[in-house]
Amino acid sequence: MIRLGVLASGSGSNLQALLDGCAAGGIDARVEVVISNVPGAGALERAARSGVAAVVSPSRGQPDRPAYDRSLVEVLQRHRVDLVCLAGYMRLISPAFLAAFGPGSATRGCPRVMNIHPGLLPSFPGLHSQRQALEYGARLAGCTVHFVDEGTDTGPVIAQAAVPVLDGDDEAALAARILAEEHRLYPQAVGWLAAGRLSLAGRRVLVDGAPAQGALRSPALDLA
Ligand code: GRF
Repeated sequence: MIRLGVLASGSGSNLQALLDGCAAGGIDARVEVVISNVPGAGALERAARSGVAAVVSPSRGQPDRPAYDRSLVEVLQRHRVDLVCLAGYMRLISPAFLAAFGPGSATRGCPRVMNIHPGLLPSFPGLHSQRQALEYGARLAGCTVHFVDEGTDTGPVIAQAAVPVLDGDDEAALAARILAEEHRLYPQAVGWLAAGRLSLAGRRVLVDGAPAQGALRSPALDLA
């Protein structure tokens, strides 16, 4: 069983998916602590409801990022966290933070910070990925779970799920379709890591015994 720390800035629906996955036994892990940089964030309420330690560490007015991140590392280490999951955490992580959670034995040499991004990386990194996909006219959108490195959404990709962009979509409709997939993909990826099924070959992540299947086409083809 590995020990998770979750960082969240918003409603925490991805946190909830992780909590539910752990509670249902699908992930061999336990969420030990949830930290939010936003006072009143829904994620804190969800943590409290699940009996998980909830820590508020306001980032507003904290220009010294390394010092701020050191305080987070301190909390995470106090809870003996093996893996840090960013779940709608709207701040960049400093190199010092990443160094504190580098590859470890609990994760079979994999990095120890993961993120979920609501876009098919490397397309549309950064903020408002769903809006970027709509404005670009992409026919497929989706989400990516990846290890975190020092860039913005540039770390090794663990898993991706694609959804179609529909003609009448606005940003909210597309975001909701993607979010439903996020809630499946993130617990699955954390579960693979907890089960020791992930390894790294360069920047390619190998998932033991989990082949990809099928193709999603958008629009669907008329020709058989
Ligand atoms: C998700 O779309 C996540 O991918 C993005 O922010 C949103 C957070 O949602 N980074 P929630 O707080 O997990 O509900």
